[in-house]
Amino acid sequence: MKLAIGNDHVAIEMKNEIVEHLREKGHTIIDVGTNSSDRFDYPVSGFKVACMVKSGEVDGGILICGTGVGISIAANKVKGIRACVCSEPFSAKMSKEHNNTNVLAFGSRVIGIEMAKMIVDEWLNAKYEGGRHQKRLDMIARIEETGDLG
Ligand code: RB5
Repeated sequence: MKLAIGNDHVAIEMKNEIVEHLREKGHTIIDVGTNSSDRFDYPVSGFKVACMVKSGEVDGGILICGTGVGISIAANKVKGIRACVCSEPFSAKMSKEHNNTNVLAFGSRVIGIEMAKMIVDEWLNAKYEGGRHQKRLDMIARIEETGDLG
């Protein structure tokens, strides 16, 4: 798969290890940074990755900040993005199967690198199930589109 990855200044080391892990598995990775330890505002990388996913330039996005929270909130402001924060593999897998998440986020201050690799692998191996779940995703899209459920 072709994936975009982004992070802030507290997640550089974890980002680099995840990039290496994914490249070893044969994925093509576009690293939008940051790669500087200077303080970096996570909405920048959240937005960049989200735009690449939205445009179809990549098949999915991975975002890492201290908690995964701020960077996922930023990504979710881009229309069509369904980003989730996961601290364990079960939610990561379910988020793809039921919610068709197109961006995965986690926190370098929350989980260790082996858990992060497991979460990423589960998410990438899972498939969206469609069916009854699509109606709910359509409802979310309607909220995004109209600000209402109607
Ligand atoms: C940076 O200090 C921290 O706020 C950021 O990495 C993230 O945890 C925000 O949600």
